[in-house]
Amino acid sequence: MIPEAFIQELVNRIDIVDVIDRNVPLKKAGANYQACCPFHNEKSPSFTVSPSKQFYHCFGCGAHGSAIGFLMEYQGLSFVEAVQELAKMAGMIVPQEQRDPDKPQVKLMPGLQEALQSAALYYKAELKKSTRAIDYLKGRGLSGQIAARFQIGYAPAGWQNLATVFDDYQHDGLKTVGLVIDNEQGRRYDRFRDRIMFPIHDSKGQVIGFGGRVIESEDDGPKYLNSPETPLFQKGHELYGLFQARRAIREAACALVVEGYMDVVALAQYGIDYAVAALGTATTPFHIQKLTRQTDHIVFCFDGDAAGQKAAWRAAMNALPALTDSLRLSFLFLPKEHDPDSFVREFGKEAFGAAIERALPFSQYLIQQLSVDNPLQAQEDRVRFLNEAEPILQQIQAPRLALLLRKRVAELAGLSQTELEQNMQLKAPTVRRSAGARADRSAPVLLGKLLEILLHAPELAVQLDDALIVGVTPEAQLLRSLRREIQRQPGLSSAVLFEQLQAEMPERYRQQLSAKMMESVAPELLTTEFEGALSQLRRLQERESSEAVDLLRIAQEQGLQALTDAQRALLKQSRWGHRKEPQ
Ligand code: UTP
Ligand code: MN
Repeated sequence: MIPEAFIQELVNRIDIVDVIDRNVPLKKAGANYQACCPFHNEKSPSFTVSPSKQFYHCFGCGAHGSAIGFLMEYQGLSFVEAVQELAKMAGMIVPQEQRDPDKPQVKLMPGLQEALQSAALYYKAELKKSTRAIDYLKGRGLSGQIAARFQIGYAPAGWQNLATVFDDYQHDGLKTVGLVIDNEQGRRYDRFRDRIMFPIHDSKGQVIGFGGRVIESEDDGPKYLNSPETPLFQKGHELYGLFQARRAIREAACALVVEGYMDVVALAQYGIDYAVAALGTATTPFHIQKLTRQTDHIVFCFDGDAAGQKAAWRAAMNALPALTDSLRLSFLFLPKEHDPDSFVREFGKEAFGAAIERALPFSQYLIQQLSVDNPLQAQEDRVRFLNEAEPILQQIQAPRLALLLRKRVAELAGLSQTELEQNMQLKAPTVRRSAGARADRSAPVLLGKLLEILLHAPELAVQLDDALIVGVTPEAQLLRSLRREIQRQPGLSSAVLFEQLQAEMPERYRQQLSAKMMESVAPELLTTEFEGALSQLRRLQERESSEAVDLLRIAQEQGLQALTDAQRALLKQSRWGHRKEPQ
């Protein structure tokens, strides 16, 4: 734990322009600095760094953040590493905060990482000595270069080879990282024996686990044996090959998700180096989030067999909560009897590229699966179709995608969209209205405006009355969080505030706000705008509540049934109707 005050001090001391300029040479452009974006391919510079905001934003791909964020993205550092790197530049020493002794903490013994690294080096050296292992890899068409790129190794036969690698073979750490197993008699032995070893790396390139494949037949346990879940390695969070593929994913503007270790490696052998594999588990929302930091196009590729079909559906279901309107998700099904490895080997890179082009878009795949084996003729067919569609539609947060899918599902079931939404109790997808109509801006728009202004000028937050921030829209929630952060830590810079809040921001909105951060606005103008938006918001609420008072009176005199549905809804939403309910 690094104390927040230190981070604040650090961010105040360093200059983001220096930090970025060391990595990506910048040119001055007006009040800002510019360069061609290091996070996507471009010819003219849209990557912009603002010295006053200490923030960067790319108008081309939307990458953005503070100096810390930049180092994390560009150099693939963890947060703590990025802070340490910056502290070095600023000549500061990172203090450690005392942990709350009541809080349980993961015990990370020193040297776990090193243990895995040593094992990987050992396996790699052993591969050079084993003609059998080398022949196997050659037989599968891999060059030495590719084997080196993925640091492929070989764990020799024998029960305790690692005892020659580590001074203390009995050290707890070896068990913690899953390199050894203790049997019931307490005897310790190597987990991986006589297997081709595929190290699994985290995004910094450090080894966090292994997959090991048998060489000949499956007479010695499962075909692939993987590291167990350890403090360093959680299958649901890691993707095999991501470290090696990062750059290629950005260049190809696409990430290919396949099923197997060998698929990733064989594809790389054939020049398709933007593939990663989920580690023998279904893809999780974490996987998708990890990938969306690199690209907005993800292609899931599945074997052509029944297992592949099943895996595809599970991947689609797991992706639902992570979908955004800017993410393109496609499904590629290979011909029966093929996996990516055998396909690229037989048909080559071009054919694979062409197959990717033809991959099914998510929405098409979804509708296709929902209507497979369903003629949608009888009422019962349609009921079944709606039953199956309902939990899926409920999970999709992306407003435009949700809207279009509802329309399509309604059409297929022979309903209107409104009928569908009422029947399924779906909330109307919320697409932000453009802020063009100035005269009568809605509360969310006004709250959004306040949010933008506060990110420029956090000190204005003291003028903001909590009672004004009503509703559960993203704007209202963000504004509340922002206010809380500013109160908790007065003096935080805009860039740091932005990064603390961005996890709560819907994707599209995050881009918009980040771009706004680049604008330079005179401080007086900000204050004027802030006060203007505040008073409009007050007026809006007064108008709304006087309307609600009228409705309340009618309801008292004539009963609730005298009101229309819309009026009742309004009453319910207003602060009159629901005094005590937390917003
Ligand atoms: P596959 O059986 O499709 O393996 O399993 P593959 O990658 O095509 O392997 P080769 O071509 O026979 O070498 C796909 C993935 O499922 C996991 C592994 O991650 C594997 O890469 N798996 C499979 C296991 O974890 N254990 C197993 O026993 C089998
Ligand atoms: Mn295979």
